[in-house]
Parts: sequence; C-alpha cells; structure tokens
Amino acid sequence: MEFTSATQPTMYFIGVTTTKSSIMKVFPLWAEELGLKDAIIKGIDIEIHADPQKYRDTVEFIKNDKLSLGALVTTHKIDLYNAARGSFEYLDTYAEMFEELSSISKKDGRLEGYAKDPISSGLAMDNFIPENFWKEHGGEVLIMGAGGSALAISSYLMKKEHGDNIPSKIIITNRSRERLDSAKAKLDGMHPGVKLEYYLCPEAKDNDEVMKNMKPYSLIINATGLGKDRPGSPLTDGCLFPENSLVWELNYRGDLKFMVQAGEQKEKRNLFIEDGWIYFIHGWTQVISEVFHVDIKGEKLERLEKLANSLR
Ligand SMILES: NC(=O)c1ccc[n+]([C@@H]2O[C@H](COP(=O)([O-])OP(=O)(O)OC[C@H]3O[C@@H](n4cnc5c(N)ncnc54)[C@H](OP(=O)(O)O)[C@@H]3O)[C@@H](O)[C@H]2O)c1
Repeated sequence: MEFTSATQPTMYFIGVTTTKSSIMKVFPLWAEELGLKDAIIKGIDIEIHADPQKYRDTVEFIKNDKLSLGALVTTHKIDLYNAARGSFEYLDTYAEMFEELSSISKKDGRLEGYAKDPISSGLAMDNFIPENFWKEHGGEVLIMGAGGSALAISSYLMKKEHGDNIPSKIIITNRSRERLDSAKAKLDGMHPGVKLEYYLCPEAKDNDEVMKNMKPYSLIINATGLGKDRPGSPLTDGCLFPENSLVWELNYRGDLKFMVQAGEQKEKRNLFIEDGWIYFIHGWTQVISEVFHVDIKGEKLERLEKLANSLR
C-alpha cells in the first residue's frame, strides 16, 4: 500500500468502502463546529480479512507520520488488532479483553488503541431499547455475526450495573467456526444470569431456524455486514421474527435487505426497527474525541447530531 505524508491534521477512516460513508460529508461540518482548524478526514479502503502486513503498514504509517493523528477502524477491528497490536504503546481494557480496536490515537508520544464499541453501542441501545425492557418481558437477544460489534453489544447488555434488567439469553451465530469459538472464549461466564449460546450458521436458512425458536420481546441484530459490506441478508425471505421484538441493523446504508425483511413483518409481528445511524454518530464522536483530545458530550453532542441529521 502507498501512503502520502499528511500536510494538515488528518484523521483516517479504515474500512472497506469508506468513500461512500456519510462521515465524508459530516466530518467537515463537525470539524468546524468543534474548532478543529484545518483538520481533514481520509479513507483507507482495505479488503475484508486482508493480509496482516497491510494492517501493520497502515498502523505504522499513522504512528510515524506527524500530522496523521489517528483513525477510526470499522470492519477490520479484530484483524487489525491481531496484526498490529505490537505497534501500540497503550491499549485500553476493552481492546485487550476483546482483542479488537476501533480507535487509533496519539497522546504524549504514545500510540493508543481503544475499543470504543462497548461504549458507543451501549449509547445507541440506550436510545431505542425501552427502559426495563428485559426485566419486564424476559426476552432474548440474537446477534448474527460474531465480530467486534457482537462482542461489544453482548458485553454492554451483560454489564453488572444493569442489575436484573438483563436479557435471559444471548445467542450468537456466525458463518464460520473461528470467530464463534473466540466469542465463546471471551464472553462465557461474564454474567451468571445470562445464558449464552453459539451456533454455526453457514447459510441463511440456519439463522432462520435459530430465530424461529426465540421468545417474544427479543432483540434481533444483523451484525454480519450483509446488506452493506456485501449484498444480502443473514436471513431468508421465509424467516419469522419473534413477536413484539426490536430489530437492529447495525448499518444505515447499502441495500439493507435485513431491514426490508423486518419491514415486511413489522405490522403483523409488531416489530420496532432501528438502523445504525445513532450508532454511527456515537461511534464517530467517541473516536474523534480521542483523536483530537476534545470532550464531546451533552449540548455539544446534540449540536453534532443535528448537523449530521441535516445531511442525511
Ligand atoms: N453504524 C455504525 O456506526 C456501525 C458500528 C459498528 C459496526 N457497524 C457495522 O456492523 C457490521 C459488523 O461490524 P463488525 O465490526 O462486528 O464486523 P466484523 O468484525 O467483520 O464481523 C462480521 C462478522 O459477521 C460474520 N458473517 C458474515 N456473513 C455472515 C453470515 N451470512 N451469517 C453469519 N455470520 C456472518 C463474519 O464471519 P467470518 O468470520 O466468517 O467472516 C464476521 O464474524 C459491519 O458491517 C459494520 O460496518 C456499524
């Protein structure tokens, strides 16, 4: 990969199809609002499950280039961590615990890696899951895709501070075995009150089968990237969503077939459907805050949300 030294304060977006992301239009408005003089954003596109050397080269470039201040990492969170962890002088607790990172930044001459998803996915869920939802209805969670987001979401839902407002069960499915085994190793035993189950689901009909047996008032999540990173959905058109459930697609762009499937059953099954827009806002503001060393909370966060919504 070829890198050019930054000539002004630069934050990178490491993903798969970064130029299509809304952040390219949103960032200049946010930078102005936050008073980040001359700051720009640049995308770095890397194919899914790339050669580890590509991740190491990218991280080393950012580390050694003075005006390259940091990056937000999506899709490659686990692969980048595994390939380039040795380049970091500091990794936060979540990054070490889940062996993934979504934020690269610099402080006092150190290269820092943070896993922000347990925080940002939590803020996003707080926004649409009704208060005491788990305590009142005893529902379950299905997360299709055992990547970084699945770990983050599960750990947030099992936080001790939620007391008895916890899902009765969390089910994680994945099309390949490796990620499933590693999710199991990281999540099992995290909360004695939450049952965890893992299923290998190489085909969409396998996910249908798992979802068919779920309780009403559940949370069904597409964390596979299907519908954005690749076309399609982890479910078939013949799937049946559990009644009175919350349906969360982690992305907000692409064909979003999973959301279309849920939309078709919305009335009949009484579903609430949420996309990844609020998650996007929390994810980015958490990382920008680390990269540029600015506090983004309360009214400031609300102003940034309004600016982003104006471009949606
Ligand atoms: N809105 C936001 O701001 C936001 C924030 C975070 C994430 N996201 C999105 O959420 C998605 C997941 O993110 P991530 O970081 O967790 O990605 P990730 O680490 O790449 O994980 C995706 C997982 O899905 C699995 N998968 C792919 N196709 C599948 C299928 N048909 N059935 C079951 N599992 C399948 C993959 O399995 P393999 O191991 O076999 O490849 C992988 O384990 C991405 O598209 C990302 O863009 C959005």
